[in-house]
Amino acid sequence: MSQFDIQNLDNSIQNLSLDDETVQDPFKDIRKLEKLDLPSFAKYMKTCSNIIFMNGAGISTSAGIPDFRSPGTGLYDNLQKYNLPNPQSIFELDYFLKDPEPFFTLSKELMPSNFKPTITHYFQKLLVDQQMVRKIYTQNIDNLELMAGISNDKIIHAHGSFRTGHCLECRTEYTMEWMKKKLEKENILYCEKEECSGGLVKPDIVFFGECLPNEFMNFRHDFSECDCLIVMGTSLKVAPFSKLPLAVKIDCPKLLINRDLVGEWQNYSTNTDKNYRLVVELNECDAACLKLVKLLDLEKDFEKLLRKN
Ligand code: OAD
Repeated sequence: MSQFDIQNLDNSIQNLSLDDETVQDPFKDIRKLEKLDLPSFAKYMKTCSNIIFMNGAGISTSAGIPDFRSPGTGLYDNLQKYNLPNPQSIFELDYFLKDPEPFFTLSKELMPSNFKPTITHYFQKLLVDQQMVRKIYTQNIDNLELMAGISNDKIIHAHGSFRTGHCLECRTEYTMEWMKKKLEKENILYCEKEECSGGLVKPDIVFFGECLPNEFMNFRHDFSECDCLIVMGTSLKVAPFSKLPLAVKIDCPKLLINRDLVGEWQNYSTNTDKNYRLVVELNECDAACLKLVKLLDLEKDFEKLLRKN
């Protein structure tokens, strides 16, 4: 045998052993993405009809609403004027019952309708219109998903919203319009029902120490049917919302669009051989959505949607 033949034989023996596909790709049966990048993710998205979005405050910063935890610009770094025991007290029920004024002062700034939906909100509306979306789970209380025209039955407001408020004593319901108008003149909202002794009216946003809304409990069903998860603009620091990415099926690809790595994406960035489905786009949400619009060949539909709004 010549040197050349021996070399060939060596190569084929190596190839034979490599033909054992379980060794080659342990994730072969559950891998849905050709590559772990945005173009491959977008290609896969085209086949999906049960996409779930998980939204955080980062999808609304380009609308002028601060997020919570970004150093310097986040809300929790800018509450000194309220003299709180700690920044999160502003959303704590016990503290609200003792001193509701800081929360209402902040509410005047944060009340929806002072803000407009972003490219990201309209991108989600676009995919809803394309029948690609199962649900949008949002932690945001700004209502911008609704203002972008997405119907309420597609949205789970995991941390509630300003849309309604309730008297903490008699449970009378108040509208956002009522709360907004009252707050133009008053610093604290009290119930106006005659039979009530003037309980505090609290917007229906979920405070630390309160239960999540009933609609959140559908998450098991939604996430078990989810074929594509997209997490956007959140630090994934607040449970139980932060645990939701773990509730999808083992073959469900997951994309994070954020300024920084969070949640399980932090571990997999250094553990690529075990990763078959986590994709990350470290970017501004709006810029990433514009990239996706292009990759999904939906530019004309998106332009039409933006023109209408
Ligand atoms: P955070 O402020 O904790 O996280 C926002 C994340 O979005 C950070 O990782 C930012 O880097 C990122 N980010 C900000 N602007 C961005 C942009 N334009 N593009 C891409 N990424 C951007 O906000 P949440 O995770 O939403 O709860 O906070 C979760 C919960 O904590 C809130 O719902 C609120 C708060 O306490 C309650 O009030 C109950």
